[in-house]
Amino acid sequence: MKISVIGAGYVGLVTGGCLAEIGHQVVCTDSDIVKIRTLESGSLPIYEPGLDAVIAKARRDGHLSFHENLADAVDFGEVIFICVGTPPLPNGDADLSAIDNVARLVATSARGPKLVIEKSTVPAQTGQELKRALSVYGRKSGITFLVASNPEFLREGTAVADFLHPDRIVVGVEDEIAERQLKEIYGPVLEGKFNCPIHAPACPAGPPPAWLVTTINSAELIKHASNSFLALKISYTNMVADLAERLGADIGEVTRAMGMDPRIGPSFLNAGLGFGGFCLPKDLQAFVHLAERSGVDFSLLKEAEKINRRRMDHFVEKIRRALWVIRGKKIGVLGLAFKPNTDDIRFAPAIDLIQLLVADGACVRAYDPEAMEKARTVLPKVEFAPSAYDAAQGAEALLIATEWEQFRRLDWERIRESMARPLVLDGRNMLSPLEMKTRGFEYFSIGRPD
Ligand code: UDX
Repeated sequence: MKISVIGAGYVGLVTGGCLAEIGHQVVCTDSDIVKIRTLESGSLPIYEPGLDAVIAKARRDGHLSFHENLADAVDFGEVIFICVGTPPLPNGDADLSAIDNVARLVATSARGPKLVIEKSTVPAQTGQELKRALSVYGRKSGITFLVASNPEFLREGTAVADFLHPDRIVVGVEDEIAERQLKEIYGPVLEGKFNCPIHAPACPAGPPPAWLVTTINSAELIKHASNSFLALKISYTNMVADLAERLGADIGEVTRAMGMDPRIGPSFLNAGLGFGGFCLPKDLQAFVHLAERSGVDFSLLKEAEKINRRRMDHFVEKIRRALWVIRGKKIGVLGLAFKPNTDDIRFAPAIDLIQLLVADGACVRAYDPEAMEKARTVLPKVEFAPSAYDAAQGAEALLIATEWEQFRRLDWERIRESMARPLVLDGRNMLSPLEMKTRGFEYFSIGRPD
């Protein structure tokens, strides 16, 4: 099928690349011409494991191209995926101006009927506004626009696998034509009929994805409700961790047992510095606002947000207790990205943490396998180390802010020898307290007995 993807950000690139991978003809565009030129030159503006290979292959096979001319790109597809950003406004609402611009662009550039699909995360009822905007701006053309919502549940770091092996595909539609077109688009994924670029020689066995057809309003709500629930789960775990710390219990032992209850499930029960990234914090805020505007008191979510904000004070307090005075101390930080396997530092707990430490007068030297280039622009007073070992060299404390797998496998004896004081504060509970003590470290983590 011929598909236009509008927005060459994270969601747009994964969506465009994977749709091309499963056999569709995809044209991707963005109002940011520099970004499109970067993509045309063969570079990716983001780090996402496996995506570079998917995009390179799709371009080589002639299944994917990047276009600067928005109108031409829009007119290319019989189906249009809107993947533009919906960043938070100062009041926490989602900024929908990019969606509005796309609606105008589609309505005025299309020369034939289109199915317009919302992929960006939007508050419930945006689909109705989109439909209205398309019919108002396109009133002179007489072209029919169908609207659908197809929320993405992609996680950064595993987005390609998430797209190709989803647990569910949600399509919010108002008519059979849209449903049929969406089913055709996702046919290869539903039937597992594509050459998987992630799993060689074969994909792990598992049930096929669930195909869920809902109303547009429900589909929009599903996305926000899912992300907010995940945020809630993390904040809940973090509070239990604080309690475990006071009571001498171990949060790892507690959540392991909790997660074995199928009604709770084992994921998203990791205590630590809290949730960051461009989705959970902003979706939670937007959901709170949506509830407020709809006259529903969802203060439960406000608490989750408040708990998340307080995580950093809690951790800095721990650092202060260990170091006594922060001013003038040399502190190494491992991890800058908001989670491992990405270079994304948007709303990253590590960045907030470093900013607090720098404001308190610490000399910070940080290392991250992928996110240093992006972090440089927001952390001008921080020194960036070429390796984890360099970040630790001469430090009076070493903090773990993102749980990159490679940090687990470091030569910790070498690190101990190189530090001015062998003190490790693990904000992600990545290492074993017992092993670290045995190696001669003072070691503090979250919700586990020191
Ligand atoms: C999230 C949703 O998971 C995904 O379905 C949606 O499409 C986009 O938003 P993502 O932003 O990639 O994905 O990150 P996610 O894996 O959800 O993690 C978010 C944050 O929560 C990270 O900072 C992570 O470190 C933190 N986290 C996650 C915890 O602190 N504890 C956990 O148990 C899990």
